[in-house]
Amino acid sequence: MPFSHRSTLTQYLIEQRRRFPSAGGDFNALILDVALACKAIARSVAFGELGHGIGNGNGAPQAAAGGEINVQGEIQKPLDVISNRLFTRMNETGGYCAGMASEEMQGPYQIPAPHPRGKYLLVFDPLDGSSNIDVNVSVGSIFSVLRAPQDAIDSGRDATVDDFLQPGSAQVAAGYALYGPTTMLVLSVGSGVVGFTLDPNLGEFMLTHPGIRVPQDTQEFAINASNSRFWEAPVKRYVDECLAGKTGPRAKDFNMRWIASMVAEAHRILMRGGVFMYPRDTKDLAKPGRLRLLYEANPVGFLIEQAGGRASTGREPVLDVKPTSLHQRVSLVFGSKIEVERIEKYHAEPKQVEYASPLFAARSLFRD
Ligand code: F6P
Repeated sequence: MPFSHRSTLTQYLIEQRRRFPSAGGDFNALILDVALACKAIARSVAFGELGHGIGNGNGAPQAAAGGEINVQGEIQKPLDVISNRLFTRMNETGGYCAGMASEEMQGPYQIPAPHPRGKYLLVFDPLDGSSNIDVNVSVGSIFSVLRAPQDAIDSGRDATVDDFLQPGSAQVAAGYALYGPTTMLVLSVGSGVVGFTLDPNLGEFMLTHPGIRVPQDTQEFAINASNSRFWEAPVKRYVDECLAGKTGPRAKDFNMRWIASMVAEAHRILMRGGVFMYPRDTKDLAKPGRLRLLYEANPVGFLIEQAGGRASTGREPVLDVKPTSLHQRVSLVFGSKIEVERIEKYHAEPKQVEYASPLFAARSLFRD
């Protein structure tokens, strides 16, 4: 294969850094450490069942512990544990992080001595959609970079939960790695969204998707329809109207997708548009949504908005939500701007009347 003329992730980051002449290079180094963790996870995922019992020297990862319940009350798979360990190990030595938080850990992860502490907080879901692992469907890692409070940077103190409770609009960078037929890294450092494809021969992420934009026009939506009887009226209305197709108020046919792997859904939407919904519902009133604000909704919301789309709770921009806890859940709607705005408008409209529907347990009609 001829040598690629494409930029590597490192070259892209160096170019971006020229915009900030005073930047010391810590941020770039942090992103490269994150990318290294993602490459290592990609390798573990690719070995699948073959990874079990093989040493982790130069080859596949060893099967780790697992089967325990994580902070979300979900069963941890061995690859959840391995991925979490890879993220913490790869990012604790460089001196760029003041602390980390993960879906797989109850509280903040403290950078252990003798490693120096840095100025960034790294928040991640090391393996999102991991229930798909058993069926060989795409999964991913999601990450968000925040700036640590100045007193934490100055003193090198332990990171506290409060340090992480920053709205999504405060993110310095966000991204995901998608472990699909190819491994991709999709990244925003606050100036648009770019995508890299892992060249397995070089072991490098190569810039393959510069300037990603969410297409505005769409005829595709993604939602777990088995929850339809628990949806709120605005969501029922939106989905009903999509399902009504050409003969309904939208006057066009829609397609539906549900992979149950948010990274894969976000990637599809960044590539060809669409709307994703995991709305608030009445299934479990204790939960205001299914997805986690700090390491799922915020990084994906940041990417989508940086790509010209929109991310919302249905009621407000998701990036404006002030977090109150590390593992907080939130309702999430994201994708093509016009569709998300339509869903927000339905949420804002008063006077919703319910009636029986042959499609769903209840269908909503809205009247002025
Ligand atoms: O962590 C959450 C997640 O796995 C997402 O990646 C995905 O969108 C969602 O859960 C799937 O939920 P459900 O199992 O309800 O379809």
